[in-house]
Amino acid sequence: MKVDWKPGTLIYPLPAVLISCGKEPSEYNLITVSWVGTICTNPPMCYISVRPERHSYELLKRDMEFVINLTTQEMAYATDWCGVNSGKDHHKFEEMQLTPEKASVVCAPILKESPLNIECRVKEVMALGSHDMFIAEVVNVQADDKYLDPVTGAFDMERANLLVYAHGKYYELGAFIGKFGWSVQKKK
Ligand SMILES: Cc1cc2nc3c(=O)[nH]c(=O)nc-3n(C[C@H](O)[C@H](O)[C@H](O)COP(=O)(O)O)c2cc1C
Repeated sequence: MKVDWKPGTLIYPLPAVLISCGKEPSEYNLITVSWVGTICTNPPMCYISVRPERHSYELLKRDMEFVINLTTQEMAYATDWCGVNSGKDHHKFEEMQLTPEKASVVCAPILKESPLNIECRVKEVMALGSHDMFIAEVVNVQADDKYLDPVTGAFDMERANLLVYAHGKYYELGAFIGKFGWSVQKKK
């Protein structure tokens, strides 16, 4: 039997990424975000949704640039910490001993410890209610070459130990099941 439940966003799993923002080293900040996703392949576009009361919100709105830094299992503690502490009171890079490095295109720094940094430029901000959605174009991606396949150049998800977030809890990625299109592939 199914029961009607209160409306809510119960989609899982989600990434828990660290968004870096700010343009001066003294103001660089990190905010943990799970309301993040892909919205277009060409041009490559992503969104993040951020509450206006966050310290990062003003930096994002002012600069209209940010970096989506994917997180790993090793970064789980810092990811949670940056999501329960505010840049109003903390310099999160320093306190978590994380390293900001210059991005190639945007003013916000990339996070060195992250395996993949997605540099974004905001096209539009949509006020939706509790959150504002920052719709952004991806203007550059930096990948840690230790996770790149030497032959195909593909990013090796499994070796990167990416962090997953579902219904308030953090997980690692589960077992491999099949690749895109395997359901219709001819059996040899
Ligand atoms: C796993 C996780 C996911 C989060 N996702 C979001 C989100 O998508 N949008 C948002 O506005 N806040 C989100 N938060 C809360 C912010 O990260 C948190 O309020 C943070 O302290 C804000 O930092 P700031 O004040 O330095 O900007 C999330 C927190 C955690 C722990």
